[in-house]
Amino acid sequence: MASLSQSATFLITIFFFFFTFIHIPTTHAIPFVVFHGISDKCSNRGVTQFTELLSSWSNSQGYCVEIGDGSWDSWTMPLLEQTSIACEKVKNMSELSEGYNIVGLSQGSMIGRGVIEFCDGGPPVKNFISLAGIHAGTASIPFCGSALICILLDSLIKSEIYSDYVQEHLAPSGYLKIPTDISGYLKGCRFLPKLNNEINGTRNSTYKERFASLQNLVLIMFEDDTVLIPKETSWFGYYPDGSFDTILPAQETKLYKEDWIGLKTLNEAGKVKFINVSGGHLQIAKSDMKKYIVPYLDDQAYAPTEQTVTESSSYEWLSRLWYLFKDLIGLDEDLPLVRTAC
Ligand SMILES: *[C@@H]1O[C@H](CO)[C@@H](O)[C@H](O)[C@H]1NC(C)=O
Ligand SMILES: *[C@@H]1O[C@H](CO)[C@@H](O)[C@H](O)[C@H]1NC(C)=O
Ligand SMILES: *[C@@H]1O[C@H](CO)[C@@H](O)[C@H](O)[C@H]1NC(C)=O
Ligand SMILES: *[C@@H]1O[C@H](CO)[C@@H](O)[C@H](O)[C@H]1NC(C)=O
Repeated sequence: MASLSQSATFLITIFFFFFTFIHIPTTHAIPFVVFHGISDKCSNRGVTQFTELLSSWSNSQGYCVEIGDGSWDSWTMPLLEQTSIACEKVKNMSELSEGYNIVGLSQGSMIGRGVIEFCDGGPPVKNFISLAGIHAGTASIPFCGSALICILLDSLIKSEIYSDYVQEHLAPSGYLKIPTDISGYLKGCRFLPKLNNEINGTRNSTYKERFASLQNLVLIMFEDDTVLIPKETSWFGYYPDGSFDTILPAQETKLYKEDWIGLKTLNEAGKVKFINVSGGHLQIAKSDMKKYIVPYLDDQAYAPTEQTVTESSSYEWLSRLWYLFKDLIGLDEDLPLVRTAC
């Protein structure tokens, strides 16, 4: 036991020495911004750790952008309002003025896309990585739990989803799309129909232009997602209007075929990555974060330089040490970090 803890101490010392040494910011990777999911907040450990890990693996600065007070406002503030706060915040951050990437978690993906499409005068967004995004809507009330607030919300939603009152007081009502009540949805829902340019006659080509100007759109769907109904919404797939019988893949939806927001344009240019990972809602493994998110945050992945070579060899050395260290203290690589309702 003594020798184990001694060698652990030794490794920790070495590890932190190299960590400090290597992570002096030497790159020009652009920063990224994280928008968290519902019920969550930037100061929660999961989101903090998620942002920090992505930052250190990609060598780019990450910021979790908070809207209002976090958890409560994420439930109760209408999404158009959340989006416009997010827009003001990113405009205010001088670090982002040369361009940045967005990582959105579930409901946060909707805010991210809102910022891309609606934010007049905002800094340019390069890559958009969406985890469990609710892009085509969800046909069920997000899992909340059995707390009193959840029971109240549940009955509220079931009765009058598309009423002004619910639309003004419950964020998820902005992306609840009941396939058997499309006319109610198009008339009453204030967020998703606008975000998806769904309403004939009010489609705004600026939203499409902005969305289609992304360099990469990474859509991560969770294979065992039971929160989003259907989980294919994370890939822009959804039920056809009027029925729950089948699920249309993105390419067969009108949004895609008529290219309302530029998804088809992006896809035909090879810029959309449809990623399927194992796990429940937002339960991403660290190995999948490295594989599917980090490459889009790390400029070096696009244009390797000489400096990268040196860095990656010391990095390799470092990561071997890290694995050894983890084995010693028993850290599990694939523990999911973020678990939120939506
Ligand atoms: C943006 O910055 C200005 C000036 O520093 C400040 O007054 C304002 O409250 C900020 N807005 C937001 C949304 O942070
Ligand atoms: C959309 O509107 C145009 C003219 O405003 C009309 O010709 C067309 O039939 C409408 N399409 C649908 C699907 O309602
Ligand atoms: C479309 O959106 C842009 C950006 O928000 C806005 O400036 C413009 O007025 C909108 N156009 C229409 C026709 O609503
Ligand atoms: C996702 O991947 C699993 C296997 O990893 C596969 O069985 C499943 O069909 C995939 N889903 C889609 C929609 O491609």
